[in-house]
Amino acid sequence: ARLVVLVSGSGTNLQALMDAAAADAYGAVVVAVGADRDGIEGLARARRAGVPTFVAKVSGHPTRAAWDGALRAEIAAHRPDLVVSAGFMKILGPEVLGAFPVVNTHPALLPSFPGAHAVAEALAYGVRVTGCTVHLVDAGVDTGPVIAQEAVTVHDGDDEDTLHERIKSVERRLLVEVVGRMAREGWTVTGRHARLGRPGR
Ligand code: GRF
Repeated sequence: ARLVVLVSGSGTNLQALMDAAAADAYGAVVVAVGADRDGIEGLARARRAGVPTFVAKVSGHPTRAAWDGALRAEIAAHRPDLVVSAGFMKILGPEVLGAFPVVNTHPALLPSFPGAHAVAEALAYGVRVTGCTVHLVDAGVDTGPVIAQEAVTVHDGDDEDTLHERIKSVERRLLVEVVGRMAREGWTVTGRHARLGRPGR
């Protein structure tokens, strides 16, 4: 399967996917990496791996809808079977979501703590257990059907960085596992329920 990965930051989830994709048995390859900004480590990781990159800045377009259309065109040029949002910090618009299946990884147990500050909010709330969620992307903010989740314990003395790093070490493994199974086995969605594997299996 052909993957286009969208990033906005350090790209460690992207790196995990590229590393896994090096094995033929994985069943998926990262064919391009897109970002909403320049100068991020995620793009540098792609370039080091020889993977084509593109940047689609919201500020480069007169409207959000124009950006949505431009992003769709950039992604479409690489003919993906699946788009993976891995730390991409923009809400994807209807043109992109209408054109491709998109899976996202979020560093909390949705529906708890959606949005861009999930780790800080979980810490501030005082939860003892948080985690990460891999879900299909719909028009909302972190509201699409859940595919997989894994719990991560909060340690006394955690700050946002130590907790986020512990979550990310779980998140990278979960994302690699789920994306590989989606590529090899497919998936079905019935209402809010996403299930890996083809129907009737
Ligand atoms: C991940 O925890 C992702 O869930 C969140 O931002 C982080 C991105 O990390 N949205 P990286 O860029 O993959 O290292």
